[in-house]
Amino acid sequence: MSTSLDQTIDPHAAALEELKAFLRFPSISTQPEHASDLAACAEWLRAKLSAIGLNTTLHATSGSPVVIALSSHDPAKRTVLIYGHYDVQPADPLEGWTTLPFEPRIEEERVIARGAADNKGQILAHILGVAETLRETGLLPVNVIFLIEGEEEIGSPHLEEFLRTHRDELASDLAVISDTAMAPGNRPALTYALRGIAAMELLVHGPARDLHSGLFGGAVANPATVLARLLASLHDEGGRVQIPGFYDAVRPLAPWERNAATALEEAAGGDAAIKELAGVTELVGEKGFTTIERIGARPTAEVNGIGGGYQGMGTKTVLPKEAFAKLTFRLVADQDPAVILQAAEEYLRSQTPPGVRLEITTGHSGAAYQSDPNSPDGLVARKALAEAFGAEPLLLRDGGSIPILATLKKILGVDSYLLGLANPDSRIHSPDENMLIENFFGGIRMNRLLLEGLVRTR
Ligand code: BES
Ligand code: MN
Repeated sequence: MSTSLDQTIDPHAAALEELKAFLRFPSISTQPEHASDLAACAEWLRAKLSAIGLNTTLHATSGSPVVIALSSHDPAKRTVLIYGHYDVQPADPLEGWTTLPFEPRIEEERVIARGAADNKGQILAHILGVAETLRETGLLPVNVIFLIEGEEEIGSPHLEEFLRTHRDELASDLAVISDTAMAPGNRPALTYALRGIAAMELLVHGPARDLHSGLFGGAVANPATVLARLLASLHDEGGRVQIPGFYDAVRPLAPWERNAATALEEAAGGDAAIKELAGVTELVGEKGFTTIERIGARPTAEVNGIGGGYQGMGTKTVLPKEAFAKLTFRLVADQDPAVILQAAEEYLRSQTPPGVRLEITTGHSGAAYQSDPNSPDGLVARKALAEAFGAEPLLLRDGGSIPILATLKKILGVDSYLLGLANPDSRIHSPDENMLIENFFGGIRMNRLLLEGLVRTR
Protein backbone atom coordinates (compact mmCIF):
# COMPACT_ATOMS: atom_id res chain seq x y z
CA MET A 1 0.00 0.00 0.00
CA SER A 2 1.52 3.36 -0.98
CA THR A 3 1.73 6.20 1.54
CA SER A 4 -0.45 8.50 -0.54
CA LEU A 5 -3.16 5.85 -0.58
CA ASP A 6 -2.74 5.29 3.16
CA GLN A 7 -3.66 8.87 3.92
CA THR A 8 -6.93 8.65 2.06
CA ILE A 9 -8.05 5.62 4.09
CA ASP A 10 -9.85 5.99 7.39
CA PRO A 11 -7.20 4.95 9.96
CA HIS A 12 -9.78 2.88 11.85
CA ALA A 13 -10.58 0.87 8.73
CA ALA A 14 -6.89 0.60 7.84
CA ALA A 15 -6.08 -0.86 11.26
CA LEU A 16 -8.81 -3.48 10.86
CA GLU A 17 -7.55 -4.37 7.38
CA GLU A 18 -4.09 -4.92 8.86
CA LEU A 19 -5.52 -7.18 11.51
CA LYS A 20 -7.33 -9.18 8.87
CA ALA A 21 -4.16 -9.52 6.80
CA PHE A 22 -2.30 -10.79 9.89
CA LEU A 23 -5.11 -13.27 10.59
CA ARG A 24 -5.05 -14.78 7.11
CA PHE A 25 -1.80 -16.67 7.82
CA PRO A 26 -2.64 -20.17 9.11
CA SER A 27 0.36 -19.99 11.43
CA ILE A 28 -0.35 -23.19 13.35
CA SER A 29 2.77 -24.10 15.28
CA THR A 30 1.86 -27.63 16.25
CA GLN A 31 1.48 -28.89 12.67
CA PRO A 32 4.74 -29.26 10.69
CA GLU A 33 2.99 -28.71 7.35
CA HIS A 34 2.39 -25.08 8.39
CA ALA A 35 6.11 -24.21 8.72
CA SER A 36 5.99 -22.05 5.58
CA ASP A 37 2.89 -20.22 6.85
CA LEU A 38 4.70 -19.45 10.08
CA ALA A 39 7.69 -18.16 8.12
CA ALA A 40 5.45 -16.00 5.91
CA CYS A 41 3.64 -14.61 8.93
CA ALA A 42 6.95 -13.75 10.62
CA GLU A 43 8.07 -12.01 7.43
CA TRP A 44 4.80 -10.01 7.37
CA LEU A 45 5.53 -8.86 10.94
CA ARG A 46 9.10 -7.98 10.06
CA ALA A 47 7.93 -5.81 7.17
CA LYS A 48 5.25 -4.16 9.35
CA LEU A 49 7.60 -3.40 12.23
CA SER A 50 10.25 -2.02 9.85
CA ALA A 51 7.66 0.14 8.10
CA ILE A 52 6.68 1.85 11.35
CA GLY A 53 10.31 2.78 11.94
CA LEU A 54 11.71 0.05 14.16
CA ASN A 55 15.00 -1.70 13.63
CA THR A 56 13.68 -5.17 12.92
CA THR A 57 15.34 -8.54 12.48
CA LEU A 58 14.03 -11.99 11.79
CA HIS A 59 15.95 -14.75 13.54
CA ALA A 60 15.86 -18.33 12.38
CA THR A 61 15.72 -20.95 15.15
CA SER A 62 15.43 -24.72 14.91
CA GLY A 63 11.69 -24.04 15.01
CA SER A 64 9.71 -20.94 13.98
CA PRO A 65 11.51 -17.64 13.41
CA VAL A 66 11.62 -15.01 16.18
CA VAL A 67 10.99 -11.35 15.34
CA ILE A 68 12.83 -8.65 17.27
CA ALA A 69 12.12 -4.95 16.67
CA LEU A 70 13.95 -2.18 18.49
CA SER A 71 13.18 1.51 18.73
CA SER A 72 16.19 3.81 18.66
CA HIS A 73 17.62 3.31 22.12
CA ASP A 74 18.34 6.23 24.42
CA PRO A 75 20.43 4.92 27.34
CA ALA A 76 18.82 7.51 29.62
CA LYS A 77 15.39 5.99 29.12
CA ARG A 78 13.85 2.86 30.55
CA THR A 79 13.42 -0.10 28.20
CA VAL A 80 10.13 -1.92 27.86
CA LEU A 81 10.00 -5.39 26.31
CA ILE A 82 6.68 -6.13 24.61
CA TYR A 83 6.24 -9.88 24.12
CA GLY A 84 3.67 -11.60 21.93
CA HIS A 85 3.23 -14.60 19.66
CA TYR A 86 2.16 -14.96 16.04
CA ASP A 87 1.51 -18.70 16.15
CA VAL A 88 -2.00 -20.01 16.71
CA GLN A 89 -3.75 -23.17 17.80
CA PRO A 90 -5.14 -25.57 15.20
CA ALA A 91 -8.59 -24.58 13.93
CA ASP A 92 -10.17 -27.98 14.64
CA PRO A 93 -12.92 -28.93 14.92
CA LEU A 94 -13.68 -27.18 11.62
CA GLU A 95 -17.40 -28.01 11.80
CA GLY A 96 -17.69 -25.71 14.81
CA TRP A 97 -16.85 -22.59 12.78
CA THR A 98 -19.54 -20.41 11.26
CA THR A 99 -17.14 -19.48 8.44
CA LEU A 100 -13.57 -20.43 7.59
CA PRO A 101 -11.07 -19.85 10.44
CA PHE A 102 -8.43 -18.14 8.30
CA GLU A 103 -10.83 -15.93 6.38
CA PRO A 104 -11.44 -13.23 8.97
CA ARG A 105 -14.86 -11.71 9.05
CA ILE A 106 -16.46 -8.90 10.99
CA GLU A 107 -19.76 -9.48 12.70
CA GLU A 108 -21.46 -7.98 15.74
CA GLU A 109 -18.52 -5.69 16.48
CA ARG A 110 -16.07 -8.57 16.53
CA VAL A 111 -13.34 -9.86 14.29
CA ILE A 112 -13.79 -13.61 13.99
CA ALA A 113 -10.83 -15.82 13.01
CA ARG A 114 -8.37 -18.24 14.59
CA GLY A 115 -5.81 -16.08 16.42
CA ALA A 116 -8.06 -12.97 16.59
CA ALA A 117 -7.60 -12.72 20.36
CA ASP A 118 -4.82 -15.28 20.92
CA ASN A 119 -2.63 -13.45 20.15
CA LYS A 120 -2.65 -11.54 16.88
CA GLY A 121 -5.24 -8.88 17.77
CA GLN A 122 -3.54 -8.20 21.10
CA ILE A 123 0.04 -7.91 19.87
CA LEU A 124 -1.04 -5.88 16.82
CA ALA A 125 -2.73 -3.36 19.15
CA HIS A 126 0.68 -2.73 20.75
CA ILE A 127 2.37 -2.46 17.37
CA LEU A 128 -0.22 0.06 16.16
CA GLY A 129 0.01 2.02 19.43
CA VAL A 130 3.76 2.38 18.95
CA ALA A 131 3.19 3.22 15.27
CA GLU A 132 0.77 6.02 16.17
CA THR A 133 3.12 7.54 18.71
CA LEU A 134 6.03 7.40 16.28
CA ARG A 135 3.95 8.92 13.48
CA GLU A 136 2.69 11.76 15.65
CA THR A 137 5.80 12.59 17.66
CA GLY A 138 8.68 10.78 15.98
CA LEU A 139 9.80 9.60 19.40
CA LEU A 140 8.74 7.06 22.02
CA PRO A 141 8.65 7.96 25.74
CA VAL A 142 10.64 4.80 26.56
CA ASN A 143 12.87 2.44 24.59
CA VAL A 144 10.79 -0.37 23.16
CA ILE A 145 11.74 -3.91 22.18
CA PHE A 146 9.18 -6.14 20.50
CA LEU A 147 9.87 -9.84 20.95
CA ILE A 148 7.35 -11.84 18.94
CA GLU A 149 7.73 -15.59 18.70
CA GLY A 150 6.02 -18.37 16.76
CA GLU A 151 6.03 -21.27 19.24
CA GLU A 152 4.06 -20.09 22.26
CA GLU A 153 1.23 -22.52 21.64
CA ILE A 154 3.63 -25.46 21.80
CA GLY A 155 5.42 -24.33 24.94
CA SER A 156 8.14 -22.09 23.40
CA PRO A 157 10.68 -24.93 23.05
CA HIS A 158 13.40 -22.78 21.46
CA LEU A 159 12.86 -19.47 23.18
CA GLU A 160 14.90 -20.10 26.32
CA GLU A 161 18.01 -20.78 24.28
CA PHE A 162 17.20 -17.74 22.13
CA LEU A 163 16.88 -15.49 25.20
CA ARG A 164 20.26 -16.70 26.43
CA THR A 165 22.01 -15.92 23.15
CA HIS A 166 20.27 -12.54 22.74
CA ARG A 167 20.38 -11.52 26.37
CA ASP A 168 22.27 -8.26 25.72
CA GLU A 169 20.09 -7.12 22.84
CA LEU A 170 16.97 -7.87 24.90
CA ALA A 171 18.14 -6.17 28.12
CA SER A 172 15.13 -4.36 29.53
CA ASP A 173 13.53 -3.03 32.71
CA LEU A 174 10.23 -4.85 32.49
CA ALA A 175 8.06 -6.86 30.12
CA VAL A 176 4.48 -6.05 29.17
CA ILE A 177 2.30 -8.69 27.61
CA SER A 178 -1.24 -8.66 26.29
CA ASP A 179 -2.02 -12.36 25.90
CA THR A 180 -4.66 -12.83 28.58
CA ALA A 181 -8.33 -12.02 28.99
CA MET A 182 -10.28 -9.13 30.44
CA ALA A 183 -12.43 -9.77 33.52
CA PRO A 184 -16.04 -10.93 33.27
CA GLY A 185 -18.30 -8.32 31.77
CA ASN A 186 -15.36 -7.25 29.61
CA ARG A 187 -13.94 -5.13 32.42
CA PRO A 188 -10.27 -4.25 32.27
CA ALA A 189 -8.00 -6.47 34.33
CA LEU A 190 -4.41 -6.76 35.36
CA THR A 191 -3.53 -10.44 35.56
CA TYR A 192 -0.98 -10.90 38.32
CA ALA A 193 -0.62 -14.68 38.18
CA LEU A 194 -0.80 -17.37 35.53
CA ARG A 195 -0.63 -21.09 36.04
CA GLY A 196 2.31 -23.16 34.87
CA ILE A 197 1.97 -26.28 32.80
CA ALA A 198 3.52 -29.74 32.43
CA ALA A 199 2.54 -32.11 29.62
CA MET A 200 2.74 -35.89 29.35
CA GLU A 201 1.49 -38.67 27.07
CA LEU A 202 0.53 -42.14 28.15
CA LEU A 203 0.61 -45.12 25.85
CA VAL A 204 -0.68 -48.40 27.24
CA HIS A 205 0.66 -51.37 25.30
CA GLY A 206 -1.25 -54.63 25.48
CA PRO A 207 -1.31 -57.63 23.10
CA ALA A 208 1.02 -57.91 20.10
CA ARG A 209 -1.84 -57.02 17.72
CA ASP A 210 -5.52 -56.06 17.79
CA LEU A 211 -7.35 -59.24 18.85
CA HIS A 212 -10.81 -60.72 18.39
CA SER A 213 -12.59 -59.57 21.54
CA GLY A 214 -14.66 -62.76 21.69
CA LEU A 215 -11.74 -65.12 21.38
CA PHE A 216 -9.46 -63.26 23.81
CA GLY A 217 -11.71 -60.95 25.85
CA GLY A 218 -11.85 -62.06 29.49
CA ALA A 219 -8.31 -63.43 29.36
CA VAL A 220 -6.17 -60.57 28.04
CA ALA A 221 -5.86 -57.14 29.69
CA ASN A 222 -7.59 -54.51 27.57
CA PRO A 223 -5.33 -51.43 27.22
CA ALA A 224 -8.35 -49.11 26.83
CA THR A 225 -9.84 -50.33 30.11
CA VAL A 226 -6.50 -50.08 31.89
CA LEU A 227 -6.04 -46.54 30.56
CA ALA A 228 -9.51 -45.52 31.70
CA ARG A 229 -8.76 -46.75 35.23
CA LEU A 230 -5.39 -44.96 35.26
CA LEU A 231 -7.02 -41.70 34.21
CA ALA A 232 -9.80 -42.12 36.74
CA SER A 233 -7.19 -42.68 39.45
CA LEU A 234 -5.82 -39.15 38.97
CA HIS A 235 -8.64 -37.62 41.08
CA ASP A 236 -10.48 -38.64 44.20
CA GLU A 237 -14.26 -38.33 44.53
CA GLY A 238 -13.90 -34.74 45.75
CA GLY A 239 -11.92 -33.62 42.73
CA ARG A 240 -8.52 -33.55 44.43
CA VAL A 241 -5.53 -34.82 42.52
CA GLN A 242 -4.37 -38.06 44.18
CA ILE A 243 -0.73 -38.05 43.06
CA PRO A 244 1.31 -38.21 46.28
CA GLY A 245 3.08 -34.90 46.92
CA PHE A 246 1.12 -33.05 44.23
CA TYR A 247 0.08 -30.22 46.56
CA ASP A 248 3.24 -30.12 48.69
CA ALA A 249 4.74 -26.97 47.16
CA VAL A 250 1.50 -25.08 46.56
CA ARG A 251 1.74 -21.57 48.00
CA PRO A 252 -1.37 -20.85 50.07
CA LEU A 253 -3.61 -17.97 48.99
CA ALA A 254 -3.01 -14.74 50.88
CA PRO A 255 -6.11 -13.24 52.53
CA TRP A 256 -6.09 -10.30 50.07
CA GLU A 257 -6.10 -12.79 47.20
CA ARG A 258 -9.16 -14.57 48.55
CA ASN A 259 -10.83 -11.16 48.82
CA ALA A 260 -9.85 -10.28 45.24
CA ALA A 261 -11.26 -13.62 44.11
CA THR A 262 -14.53 -12.91 45.93
CA ALA A 263 -14.75 -9.43 44.35
CA LEU A 264 -14.17 -11.05 41.00
CA GLU A 265 -16.75 -13.74 41.64
CA GLU A 266 -19.32 -11.03 42.35
CA ALA A 267 -18.33 -8.98 39.32
CA ALA A 268 -18.45 -12.14 37.25
CA GLY A 269 -22.05 -12.84 38.08
CA GLY A 270 -21.05 -15.96 40.02
CA ASP A 271 -21.02 -19.49 38.71
CA ALA A 272 -24.00 -18.85 36.44
CA ALA A 273 -21.91 -16.69 34.11
CA ILE A 274 -19.12 -19.27 33.97
CA LYS A 275 -21.58 -22.05 33.17
CA GLU A 276 -22.96 -19.91 30.40
CA LEU A 277 -19.47 -19.25 28.93
CA ALA A 278 -18.58 -22.93 29.11
CA GLY A 279 -21.95 -24.15 27.87
CA VAL A 280 -22.49 -26.53 30.82
CA THR A 281 -25.21 -26.91 33.42
CA GLU A 282 -22.99 -27.86 36.39
CA LEU A 283 -19.54 -26.87 37.58
CA VAL A 284 -17.32 -29.41 39.31
CA GLY A 285 -13.96 -29.48 41.01
CA GLU A 286 -11.93 -29.47 44.17
CA LYS A 287 -13.92 -28.90 47.35
CA GLY A 288 -13.15 -25.93 49.60
CA PHE A 289 -12.40 -23.43 46.83
CA THR A 290 -14.60 -21.13 44.80
CA THR A 291 -14.79 -21.55 41.05
CA ILE A 292 -12.59 -18.51 40.45
CA GLU A 293 -10.00 -19.95 42.85
CA ARG A 294 -10.16 -23.40 41.30
CA ILE A 295 -9.52 -21.94 37.87
CA GLY A 296 -6.85 -19.40 38.74
CA ALA A 297 -5.16 -20.46 41.93
CA ARG A 298 -5.32 -24.24 42.25
CA PRO A 299 -3.37 -26.86 40.30
CA THR A 300 -5.19 -29.43 38.16
CA ALA A 301 -4.73 -32.59 36.12
CA GLU A 302 -6.58 -32.68 32.80
CA VAL A 303 -6.97 -35.23 30.03
CA ASN A 304 -6.68 -33.36 26.73
CA GLY A 305 -7.10 -36.28 24.39
CA ILE A 306 -7.78 -39.99 24.50
CA GLY A 307 -7.84 -42.73 21.90
CA GLY A 308 -7.38 -46.36 20.99
CA GLY A 309 -9.36 -49.16 19.45
CA TYR A 310 -11.94 -48.97 16.71
CA GLN A 311 -13.10 -45.42 15.86
CA GLY A 312 -15.06 -46.01 12.64
CA MET A 313 -18.75 -46.46 11.88
CA GLY A 314 -20.67 -49.30 13.47
CA THR A 315 -19.13 -51.85 15.79
CA LYS A 316 -15.95 -53.85 15.46
CA THR A 317 -15.36 -56.54 18.04
CA VAL A 318 -11.76 -55.83 18.80
CA LEU A 319 -9.54 -55.88 21.84
CA PRO A 320 -7.12 -53.09 20.93
CA LYS A 321 -3.38 -53.57 21.14
CA GLU A 322 -2.89 -50.10 22.66
CA ALA A 323 -4.57 -46.98 23.97
CA PHE A 324 -3.23 -43.48 24.55
CA ALA A 325 -4.03 -40.30 26.41
CA LYS A 326 -2.55 -36.80 26.41
CA LEU A 327 -2.43 -35.06 29.78
CA THR A 328 -1.50 -31.65 31.08
CA PHE A 329 -1.13 -30.51 34.64
CA ARG A 330 -1.77 -26.83 35.39
CA LEU A 331 0.56 -25.70 38.13
CA VAL A 332 0.72 -22.84 40.60
CA ALA A 333 3.55 -21.24 42.56
CA ASP A 334 5.79 -22.91 43.82
CA GLN A 335 5.24 -26.27 42.11
CA ASP A 336 8.21 -27.40 40.02
CA PRO A 337 7.08 -28.92 36.68
CA ALA A 338 9.90 -31.51 36.70
CA VAL A 339 9.01 -32.66 40.22
CA ILE A 340 5.33 -32.93 39.30
CA LEU A 341 6.03 -34.95 36.15
CA GLN A 342 8.24 -37.30 38.15
CA ALA A 343 5.62 -37.75 40.88
CA ALA A 344 2.90 -38.34 38.28
CA GLU A 345 4.99 -40.95 36.50
CA GLU A 346 5.73 -42.85 39.71
CA TYR A 347 2.09 -42.75 40.75
CA LEU A 348 0.75 -43.90 37.37
CA ARG A 349 3.28 -46.75 37.24
CA SER A 350 2.25 -47.81 40.72
CA GLN A 351 -1.38 -47.96 39.52
CA THR A 352 -0.63 -50.00 36.38
CA PRO A 353 -1.77 -53.62 36.61
CA PRO A 354 0.20 -56.56 35.20
CA GLY A 355 -0.47 -57.62 31.60
CA VAL A 356 0.20 -54.25 29.98
CA ARG A 357 3.20 -51.99 29.57
CA LEU A 358 2.85 -48.27 30.28
CA GLU A 359 4.98 -45.97 28.12
CA ILE A 360 5.23 -42.37 29.34
CA THR A 361 6.59 -39.46 27.32
CA THR A 362 6.90 -36.05 28.88
CA GLY A 363 6.23 -32.95 26.82
CA HIS A 364 6.71 -29.21 27.27
CA SER A 365 6.53 -27.52 30.63
CA GLY A 366 6.76 -24.11 32.25
CA ALA A 367 6.50 -22.92 35.82
CA ALA A 368 3.69 -20.74 37.15
CA TYR A 369 4.29 -17.00 37.26
CA GLN A 370 3.31 -14.24 39.67
CA SER A 371 4.08 -10.52 39.64
CA ASP A 372 3.14 -7.80 42.11
CA PRO A 373 0.12 -5.71 41.04
CA ASN A 374 1.04 -3.14 43.71
CA SER A 375 4.61 -2.50 42.51
CA PRO A 376 5.23 0.93 40.92
CA ASP A 377 5.02 -0.57 37.42
CA GLY A 378 1.95 -2.59 38.42
CA LEU A 379 0.24 0.65 39.44
CA VAL A 380 1.19 2.29 36.12
CA ALA A 381 -0.26 -0.69 34.26
CA ARG A 382 -3.51 -0.42 36.23
CA LYS A 383 -3.76 3.31 35.49
CA ALA A 384 -3.20 2.79 31.76
CA LEU A 385 -5.95 0.14 31.71
CA ALA A 386 -8.30 2.37 33.70
CA GLU A 387 -7.82 5.32 31.36
CA ALA A 388 -7.95 3.31 28.15
CA PHE A 389 -11.08 1.38 29.10
CA GLY A 390 -12.83 3.82 31.44
CA ALA A 391 -13.09 1.51 34.48
CA GLU A 392 -10.86 0.46 37.36
CA PRO A 393 -9.15 -2.81 36.48
CA LEU A 394 -9.81 -5.91 38.54
CA LEU A 395 -6.89 -8.04 39.69
CA LEU A 396 -6.92 -11.57 38.33
CA ARG A 397 -5.15 -14.84 38.66
CA ASP A 398 -5.82 -16.56 35.39
CA GLY A 399 -5.81 -20.25 34.72
CA GLY A 400 -4.01 -20.28 31.36
CA SER A 401 -0.25 -20.40 30.93
CA ILE A 402 2.43 -18.46 29.16
CA PRO A 403 5.31 -20.79 29.92
CA ILE A 404 8.03 -18.31 28.97
CA LEU A 405 7.19 -15.83 31.78
CA ALA A 406 9.25 -17.64 34.39
CA THR A 407 12.09 -17.86 31.87
CA LEU A 408 11.96 -14.12 31.09
CA LYS A 409 12.43 -13.52 34.80
CA LYS A 410 15.21 -16.09 35.09
CA ILE A 411 17.25 -14.99 32.07
CA LEU A 412 16.48 -11.29 31.57
CA GLY A 413 15.59 -10.58 35.19
CA VAL A 414 12.39 -8.78 34.19
CA ASP A 415 8.95 -8.89 35.75
CA SER A 416 6.05 -9.32 33.33
CA TYR A 417 2.84 -7.30 33.59
CA LEU A 418 -0.12 -8.90 31.91
CA LEU A 419 -2.60 -6.43 30.45
CA GLY A 420 -5.09 -8.68 28.72
CA LEU A 421 -7.24 -7.41 25.88
CA ALA A 422 -9.21 -10.55 25.00
CA ASN A 423 -12.93 -10.32 25.70
CA PRO A 424 -13.95 -13.10 28.11
CA ASP A 425 -16.15 -14.64 25.41
CA SER A 426 -13.34 -14.59 22.84
CA ARG A 427 -13.39 -18.40 22.54
CA ILE A 428 -9.63 -18.75 22.30
CA HIS A 429 -8.59 -22.27 21.22
CA SER A 430 -12.27 -22.91 20.27
CA PRO A 431 -14.28 -22.53 17.08
CA ASP A 432 -15.36 -18.96 16.26
CA GLU A 433 -12.49 -17.35 18.15
CA ASN A 434 -13.10 -13.61 18.10
CA MET A 435 -11.95 -10.27 19.43
CA LEU A 436 -14.19 -7.31 20.16
CA ILE A 437 -13.15 -4.44 17.92
CA GLU A 438 -13.48 -2.00 20.83
CA ASN A 439 -10.93 -4.06 22.79
CA PHE A 440 -8.51 -3.92 19.87
CA PHE A 441 -8.75 -0.12 19.67
CA GLY A 442 -8.75 0.14 23.48
CA GLY A 443 -5.48 -1.79 23.34
CA ILE A 444 -3.95 0.77 21.00
CA ARG A 445 -4.88 3.56 23.45
CA MET A 446 -3.66 1.47 26.38
CA ASN A 447 -0.25 0.95 24.76
CA ARG A 448 0.22 4.70 24.38
CA LEU A 449 -0.87 5.49 27.96
CA LEU A 450 1.25 2.65 29.32
CA LEU A 451 4.49 3.68 27.62
CA GLU A 452 3.85 7.28 28.69
CA GLY A 453 3.29 6.17 32.28
CA LEU A 454 6.37 3.95 32.41
CA VAL A 455 8.71 6.92 31.93
CA ARG A 456 10.68 7.10 35.14
CA THR A 457 14.27 7.94 35.89
CA ARG A 458 16.21 4.90 36.95
N1 BES B 1 -2.92 -16.62 25.64
C1 BES B 1 -2.89 -17.93 26.15
C2 BES B 1 -2.78 -17.97 27.66
C3 BES B 1 -3.92 -17.35 28.45
C4 BES B 1 -5.15 -17.13 27.88
C5 BES B 1 -3.73 -17.00 29.73
C6 BES B 1 -6.17 -16.55 28.61
C7 BES B 1 -4.75 -16.45 30.48
C8 BES B 1 -5.97 -16.21 29.91
C9 BES B 1 -1.72 -18.68 25.56
O1 BES B 1 -1.60 -18.46 24.17
C10 BES B 1 -1.97 -20.15 25.68
O2 BES B 1 -2.95 -20.63 25.18
N2 BES B 1 -1.09 -20.84 26.34
C11 BES B 1 -1.14 -22.24 26.39
C12 BES B 1 0.24 -22.69 26.72
C13 BES B 1 0.58 -24.08 26.33
C14 BES B 1 0.11 -24.51 25.01
C15 BES B 1 2.04 -24.34 26.52
C16 BES B 1 -2.14 -22.69 27.41
O3 BES B 1 -2.40 -22.00 28.41
O4 BES B 1 -2.73 -23.75 27.19
MN1 MN C 1 -3.20 -19.83 23.22
